[in-house]
Amino acid sequence: MQVIGQGAEAILTRINETVLKERIPKSYRLQELDQKLRQSRTRREAKILEKLNTLNIPAPKLLSVDDKKMQITMQHINGQIVKDILNKQPEKLSWEIGSLVGKLHANNIIHNDLTTSNMIFSDKITLIDFGLSFVSPKIEDKAVDLHLLRQALESKHHEISESCFPTIINAYKQTNPEAEKVLEQLNKVEKRGRNKKPNSKRIQEGVGFFEVENTADTKVSPSTTMANEVAFSTNKK
Ligand SMILES: Nc1ncnc2c1ncn2[C@@H]1O[C@H](COP(=O)(O)OP(=O)(O)O)[C@@H](O)[C@H]1O
Ligand SMILES: [Mg+2]
Repeated sequence: MQVIGQGAEAILTRINETVLKERIPKSYRLQELDQKLRQSRTRREAKILEKLNTLNIPAPKLLSVDDKKMQITMQHINGQIVKDILNKQPEKLSWEIGSLVGKLHANNIIHNDLTTSNMIFSDKITLIDFGLSFVSPKIEDKAVDLHLLRQALESKHHEISESCFPTIINAYKQTNPEAEKVLEQLNKVEKRGRNKKPNSKRIQEGVGFFEVENTADTKVSPSTTMANEVAFSTNKK
């Protein structure tokens, strides 16, 4: 047994060829809200992994889910995190990223946390970390997903993001038949972002608003995601 990840939300342990992902309580959240968010993220991740497995889109195989213990077990993917190697093969990896995201969107799956830390490369790229993902046919949701990816690239791969993103988009066009509409919407999303008041934004977490720093990770408000997640969790009870 080996701890392979301990992020803000979850502890990940490798057990032989499997990974146990357990969502840990967050004491700063109201207990009931925290319980619902962890439960809905656990269910979401399991549901999306299952869907990806049936669609043959590269993602870890789901082995089990326990939404009382907030645990998922999945296949361990051997490889390197794309964040660590993007600068070694930017063209090839960018093409693959775009092609994969296009496939996700063509199947109405919105990842909602597209960063190069959530991609593992072995002989191909495998996407991970679907706890914030959801199913939606909306062009807006797909455009925002791409916008978040662009922001993640600008923040973590600043020197190469300007050349990587066009390659990602070209590949995206090959796998998502609706690409033109999504890209048109992406322009609108980014215009909206530029017109926003700098350095602060409003984020709604379940109930009530608070101001946060305008960091790359929070430029697009997750308010609807949070509210929907709780609704999703409640409906599933
Ligand atoms: N199925 C997996 N196979 C191999 N490594 C994984 C797997 N899932 C997660 N990891 C590792 O654990 C890290 C954190 O997992 P992730 O699902 O992204 O959770 P977090 O919400 O903490 O970002 C990843 O960046 C990766 O290094
Ligand atoms: Mg992650």
